Amino acid sequence: MKGILLSGGTGSRLRPITHTGPKQLVPVANKPVLEYAIEDLKEAGITDIGVVLGHKGRDAIQELLGDGSKYGVDITYIVQGEPLGLAHAAGCARDFVGNDDFVMYLGDNILKSGIAELVESFERGDYGAGIALQKVDDPQAFGIADVDDDGNAIQLVEKPEDPPTNLALIGMYVFSPAVFDAIDDLEPSWRGELEITDAIQLLLEDGYEIDSQVVTGWWKDTGKPTDILEANRLVLEDKELETAGVVEDGAETEGRIGLAESATIEDGAVVRGPVSIAENVTIKHGTYVGPYTSIGANSTLEDIHIENSVVIGDSTLSASGRIVDSLLGRNADVESADELLPEGRRLVVGENSQLKL
Ligand code: DAU
Repeated sequence: MKGILLSGGTGSRLRPITHTGPKQLVPVANKPVLEYAIEDLKEAGITDIGVVLGHKGRDAIQELLGDGSKYGVDITYIVQGEPLGLAHAAGCARDFVGNDDFVMYLGDNILKSGIAELVESFERGDYGAGIALQKVDDPQAFGIADVDDDGNAIQLVEKPEDPPTNLALIGMYVFSPAVFDAIDDLEPSWRGELEITDAIQLLLEDGYEIDSQVVTGWWKDTGKPTDILEANRLVLEDKELETAGVVEDGAETEGRIGLAESATIEDGAVVRGPVSIAENVTIKHGTYVGPYTSIGANSTLEDIHIENSVVIGDSTLSASGRIVDSLLGRNADVESADELLPEGRRLVVGENSQLKL
C-alpha cells in the first residue's frame, strides 16, 4: 500500500496567513498540519509516500519534509501545479502508484484516531475504494455519502444542495488502482474541478463495492482560521506536553505546559495550560498565557494577556491588552501605542486580514 498526500490548493480562506506559504504548513500545537498526516500514514504501515505539490510553497514543503527520513518514511514529490481538483491531483500520482492500492490523505486535514482502521477494513474485503465518514451539521459544504446497513456506500455526491444524509467524506480515502480509469472518465464539476467524490460514484456505477468507516474521534479540515484554533484546542487537549525549558522562581504555572528546552517563563509571568511554547520563546513579567494557546518559536511576550490563540512565530507581543481567539502570522508584532501621540491604534494590515478592535 502506498500513500499520496495532497499539498496543493490555494489556501484562499486562510489569507493573509497563506499569502506567504501553503496552508498545509500552518502549525497546530507548534507542528505543521502536514506532519500529522505523515505520522498517521506511517502508523498505518505506509512508508512509501508521494507528496503532491501545487504552485504555492513548493520549496517550503520540500524543505520541511526532505526525503522523509526524519519521519522514517520515503517521500517522492509529484507536481500537480494548478489546483484542478482532488481527482486531478490523484491522477498526477498514477505513475508513482503503479498497480498498488493507495491511501489519499488531504494535507490540510487532521484526525484524532489515525487511519489504521480505514486501511485494515479496506484490506479485509475486495473493494474499489474505502472512505472515511463523519456526521456534520453543514452537509452542503462537503462530499456526502449514503450507506447501506453493511456500511457499503450506495451514493456519493459532492457539496449537494439537497444532501441525502449528513455523513461527510472526510479527507482520507483508500483506493484500488481502478480509480485511475474512473478519473479518466470524469468531467469537471460546477466548480470547474475534477471531483474525487464523482470518481468514487463512477466506481460504484461500474460495479465496485465501496467500503466506509464512520470515524468517531474528532476530525478537522483546517481550511479557515477558526478551524486552526479549534484544531489547536483539540490537539492540546490530547497531546502529552513536556516542560523542558526554564520556569523561573516567581512564575505562576498551572495545568499542562509544553515548554521547549530553550524557552523561558520568567518571574512575574502567569501561564495556564494546556499550552505549547516553542523554542527560543520568552514569556516576560506581566504576561498571561491562557489555556489552548500555542506560541511559535523566537517570540517574546511582555505585559500581554493571550488565550485560545495561535502565534505562528518570530513575533513580539508587548501591548497591555487582551488577545483572545486569534491567529497571528509569522513576524506579526503587537506593541503598545500608549505613549504615542496622537492617540489611536496604528495598524499595518495585510490583504484579507480580519481585525476586531
Ligand atoms: O475536507 C473534506 C472535503 O475535502 C470533502 O468532504 C470533499 O468531498 C472534498 O472535495 C474536499 O473538499 P474541499 O472543498 O474542502 O477541498 P479543498 O479544495 O480544500 O482541498 C483539500 C486539500 O487538497 C487541500 O489540502 C488542498 C489539496 N488540493 C486541492 C485541490 C482542489 C490539491 O492538492 N489539489 C487540488 O487540485
